[in-house]
Amino acid sequence: MLRPVITIDGPSASGKGTVAALVARELGFHYLDSGALYRLAALYALREGVSWEDENQVARLAAQLPAAFTDDKAWLDGHDVSAAIRAEDIGMGASRIAALPSVRAALLERQRAYQQTPGLVADGRDMGSVVFPRAELKVFLTASAEERAARRYKQLIAKGESANLLQIQQDICDRDARDAARSVAPLRQEPDARLLDTSALTIDQAVNQVLQWFRER
Ligand code: CDP
Ligand code: CDP
Repeated sequence: MLRPVITIDGPSASGKGTVAALVARELGFHYLDSGALYRLAALYALREGVSWEDENQVARLAAQLPAAFTDDKAWLDGHDVSAAIRAEDIGMGASRIAALPSVRAALLERQRAYQQTPGLVADGRDMGSVVFPRAELKVFLTASAEERAARRYKQLIAKGESANLLQIQQDICDRDARDAARSVAPLRQEPDARLLDTSALTIDQAVNQVLQWFRER
């Protein structure tokens, strides 16, 4: 266990990012938000005038993505795009390009490079199945669709954005369906992943459960 990896996969707004970042902080590990890479690639394509359907061109851009994560911010070409990549349409774009095999291949090694001492917590959809199949601990984090939509709604309202709960619920269902149905790296619970349903859990409870599982190993 020189560079242990904890993977946290699951559907949209299940709490993966929040829980993964806190677990990483608690253990002093690195943190990879793989969804942010897909969001950055989707935003980059949009800004370069490349259609999200154009697999070759999107993969070309993903392979040379001028992105970085520093100071809790996401950067694209030297610009702070932390807020821009969180927009719902960019989430949808990320989900579209994430279904293209050569785009996933273009981002694979970049994600693996995050496995560094003293360890890594990685969240996404295929962290345990494809990117880090030999991870020390794999968690499949989920929550009911209603709870997830309510969380996303609260997040948007807290940011001062307008939000429509029914529309969010629909968007989340559409994205889950596309992520689960695609032929490459579909969203699903791996046989060796622990299931953690956070519908009725606080963030602290979810974080403590992951830490307990990791320490038990
Ligand atoms: O990364 P993912 O899309 O799975 O979810 P997130 O952005 O980490 O979490 C969505 C929202 O749910 C955040 O505002 C969290 O604070 C909240 N959350 C919660 O209320 N209870 C939990 N047990 C986990 C997350
Ligand atoms: O925040 P949320 O959970 O809604 O999404 P995200 O983790 O930021 O990921 C955005 C989109 O990227 C997802 O809907 C997936 O289609 C895609 N994605 C993926 O395919 N594989 C990953 N490892 C991470 C994200």
